[in-house]
Amino acid sequence: MGIIIEKATCEDSAGILQYLKQIGAETDNLTFGAEGLPFTNESEAAYISQIENSCDDIMLIAKEDGKIVGNASLSRLPRRMKHRGDFGVSVLKEYWNKGIGGQLLLEIIKFAKQNSFEVIDLQVRSDNLSAIHLYEKFGFKKIGTHPAFFKIGGKEISFDYMCLRIQ
Ligand SMILES: CC(C)(COP(=O)(O)OP(=O)(O)OC[C@H]1O[C@@H](n2cnc3c(N)ncnc32)[C@H](O)[C@@H]1OP(=O)(O)O)[C@@H](O)C(=O)NCCC(=O)NCCS
Repeated sequence: MGIIIEKATCEDSAGILQYLKQIGAETDNLTFGAEGLPFTNESEAAYISQIENSCDDIMLIAKEDGKIVGNASLSRLPRRMKHRGDFGVSVLKEYWNKGIGGQLLLEIIKFAKQNSFEVIDLQVRSDNLSAIHLYEKFGFKKIGTHPAFFKIGGKEISFDYMCLRIQ
C-alpha cells in the first residue's frame, strides 16, 4: 500500500467533497452523514487556496494512487485562544487500522510545533475506542465529557474533550 500524505491543493477540492460524502456515509462519528458538507467546489477551492501558506490552518490528505483515503485538519482558534488549534481526522473504512490516522496526526503535530501552537484540542465520541486509543498513543489526555454532544435519531451521544500540550 503506497500511502502519500500531502497538503490539499485547489485541485483536490472536488475529490475532498466526494470523499466527505463517502466517509459521512461510513460512520456516525462525524458531524455530518452521507450528505457531506454544504460546500461547493468553488468555495472549497477558495478555502484551500486561502490556507495554502497559512501558519494557522492546515488541511492534509492521504492518497493511494491519487485517490483520497483520509484527511486531517488543524485550525487555530482566534484571539485569546490562539495558542490552541482544533483538530479533526478521518480515514475511509476500508483503510482503518493501517496506520494512516497515525501518519496524519504525526504531520499535524509537526505543523503545530513548527507554528507555535501550544495545545491541540479535539472532541471524540466517548464510544470511539479506536480514535481514543490513537489519540492517547500520541499523548492526548481526556479533560472532560459532554453528555449530549450529538443527537442522532433522537438519541443523545456523549463526546470526550481531549487535548495535547505541545512542548
Ligand atoms: C479514527 C480513525 C481516523 C483512525 O484512523 P486509522 O487509520 O484507523 O488509525 P490508525 O490505524 O493509525 O490507528 C488506529 C488504532 O486503533 C486501534 N484500535 C482499533 N480498534 C480498536 C478498539 N476497538 N479499541 C481500541 N483500539 C482499537 C488500532 O489497533 C490502532 O492502534 P495501534 O496502531 O496501536 O495498533 C478512523 O477509524 C476513522 O476515520 N474513523 C471514522 C471517523 C472518526 O471517527 N474520526 C475521528 C473523529 S474524533
